[in-house]
Amino acid sequence: MSEPILSVSGVEKTFILHLREGARLPVVSGAGFELFSGECVALGGPSGAGKSSLLKMVYGNYRVDAGHIRVRDGDEVVDVATTPPRRLMRLRETTMGYVSQFLRVIPRVGALDVAAEPLTGDGVPREEALARAGALLARLNLPERLWGLPPATFSGGEQQRVNIARGLIAHRPLLLMDEPTASLDAANRQVVIGLIEEKKRAGVAILGIFHDAEVREAVCDRVIDVTEFAKAA
Ligand SMILES: Nc1ncnc2c1ncn2[C@@H]1O[C@H](COP(=O)(O)OP(=O)(O)OP(=O)(O)O)[C@@H](O)[C@H]1O
Ligand SMILES: [Mg+2]
Repeated sequence: MSEPILSVSGVEKTFILHLREGARLPVVSGAGFELFSGECVALGGPSGAGKSSLLKMVYGNYRVDAGHIRVRDGDEVVDVATTPPRRLMRLRETTMGYVSQFLRVIPRVGALDVAAEPLTGDGVPREEALARAGALLARLNLPERLWGLPPATFSGGEQQRVNIARGLIAHRPLLLMDEPTASLDAANRQVVIGLIEEKKRAGVAILGIFHDAEVREAVCDRVIDVTEFAKAA
């Protein structure tokens, strides 16, 4: 058996609500699971179970109170729970990608550049990066007349497609996705299913939240029920 690319163990997290006299809101306790190259795993459970929070802990956006989140980075293993911020940033550049639920709009930057940016960040020449971004936006049926415009005024589904292009354009062996298809129509959901299948074939491990049953059943190999981690919390 090969080594997991992601290994989560004993993760605990309680939110402290400082504006509510320090009220404690336990969200996960004893969370543990592994993720292997080429598989797609869904975090499941009802609204409020802690799915997005757990994904943000794996990405390092939320601190954990205890436990380990070990990510294989080439020959090294990085524990997101304890690694210094600079090492976390480098891990995100080489290994761990994140497709957020909503696009964080960058003022005055056009959709094509928004989608191409992770590639130019990796050192791909600008012309090639823009060509690949264009191919991806075309595949996601984003009308070419929008490519030069900043996505701030785009519809929800248009923004989501720019976000998916940006999240998938560069190769990252571990990909985290928070409801990537929530605002998409049926045809574009199919495009995203195809893109996820290609990533899996390329050996990428995907951990995601897929509310849409059609997408989940098409791409996910198993579901981790986050309520399992809430019982003791
Ligand atoms: N930054 C935060 N500060 C305080 N509480 C938070 C924070 N983020 C999440 N929570 C709380 O943690 C719990 C889990 O939220 P989370 O967003 O992880 O749920 P979810 O399973 O993703 O739900 P949904 O399916 O609705 O997206 C909720 O009760 C939420 O209010
Ligand atoms: Mg959520």
